[in-house]
Amino acid sequence: MRVRADTQQQQQRPLLFLLLLLQLLLQHGEGIYWLGLASRGIPVSWNHTQHCKLLHTLAPDQQQLCRRNLELMGSVVQAAELTKAACQSTFKDMRWNCSSIQSAPNFSPDLAKGTRESAFVFSLSAAVLSHSIARSCASGALPSCSCAPAPAEQASSDFRWGGCGDNVHYGMQMGSAFSDATLNSRRSGSPSIRLMHLHNNAVGRQAVLDSLETRCKCHGVSGSCSVKTCWKSLLDVGQISAQLKARYLSATKVVPRQMGSRRQLVPREMEVRPVLENELVYLISSPDYCSYNTKHGSYGTTDRQCNKTATGSSSCGLMCCGRGYNTYTEQVEERCNCRYHWCCYVTCKKCQHTVERHVCK
Ligand SMILES: *[C@@H]1O[C@H](CO)[C@@H](O)[C@H](O)[C@H]1NC(C)=O
Ligand SMILES: *[C@@H]1O[C@H](CO)[C@@H](O)[C@H](O)[C@H]1NC(C)=O
Ligand SMILES: *[C@@H]1O[C@H](CO)[C@@H](O)[C@H](O)[C@H]1NC(C)=O
Repeated sequence: MRVRADTQQQQQRPLLFLLLLLQLLLQHGEGIYWLGLASRGIPVSWNHTQHCKLLHTLAPDQQQLCRRNLELMGSVVQAAELTKAACQSTFKDMRWNCSSIQSAPNFSPDLAKGTRESAFVFSLSAAVLSHSIARSCASGALPSCSCAPAPAEQASSDFRWGGCGDNVHYGMQMGSAFSDATLNSRRSGSPSIRLMHLHNNAVGRQAVLDSLETRCKCHGVSGSCSVKTCWKSLLDVGQISAQLKARYLSATKVVPRQMGSRRQLVPREMEVRPVLENELVYLISSPDYCSYNTKHGSYGTTDRQCNKTATGSSSCGLMCCGRGYNTYTEQVEERCNCRYHWCCYVTCKKCQHTVERHVCK
């Protein structure tokens, strides 16, 4: 296969050059182009390898994985949707609110470069992909896997392993093959950015592994719980996303350093320590996202809603970057004076009341 490709390349030098140029122009978001699968909305049944080619949002190495694992593609599309929703919901109170993820696979500079924001999105997407596959195994949606085998740890006397656990092992295996596919190839961006994305992908998957918890169900006469069945289950994507946001806030800026024959990323500050396996890393500082600047992928916070009484990132001071805010009132309608009637319905009145809203200048 490779030999044939090489001879082809020799015959087609100009084409190869053009392709290389394209690769350079495409910048570094390639590993997460698959997030674009969500927005396409085409109902692909994923029963023919040709479908992989139709979806040019898949990078070449991912297309190959697609052809070999067609049955996984449903989980990939689902993961793309979940990633977008989780990112925007987790960052809705922040100046950078992840709205740019909607334009996948055409990323603006906030996500196309080695920023803190792209560190978060890579780690989240890798986490969600493994999560989705692990869950799909357990729900019986995938022919290639099923419930996780019983955990190695000993069940105690008051419960036994049973039920159907999320298949984290399979999720990790297939999720990392897909998420890291392009990053392991030399074509994809500079070595430093590849190291950054690979590291952050691994941080995301580790957060999924760490989220495994034991859940149990009681059996026995009228819920007496004399017999208990337990299995290992993953936390929901929203909770994992919140954990990764905390790591985004404390992410470490790194620089590449040559260590013998290997290139590594090390913290930029003078600290002499390796990068930790649970910290997100980035290469390029982000703007403060206060003002509109397409060159930096910043949409600014003008017209964003802020919270006058809050003290955190959604407060008017921080959200509006000191520019101040405009206040307007809005009529909202709510159900009120609800009464329960025997048996069995509820009647409510409609009440109007006024709420104050604040938007950044
Ligand atoms: C793929 O699925 C579609 C819709 O379910 C069906 O019409 C088509 O015949 C299938 N193609 C193959 C090659 O199985
Ligand atoms: C996110 O920010 C953009 C740009 O400031 C804004 O247009 C959009 O409405 C915001 N989204 C939410 C959910 O606040
Ligand atoms: C504003 O912040 C306060 C305090 O954190 C909170 O109780 C309230 O629900 C927030 N209001 C809105 C509209 O989010």
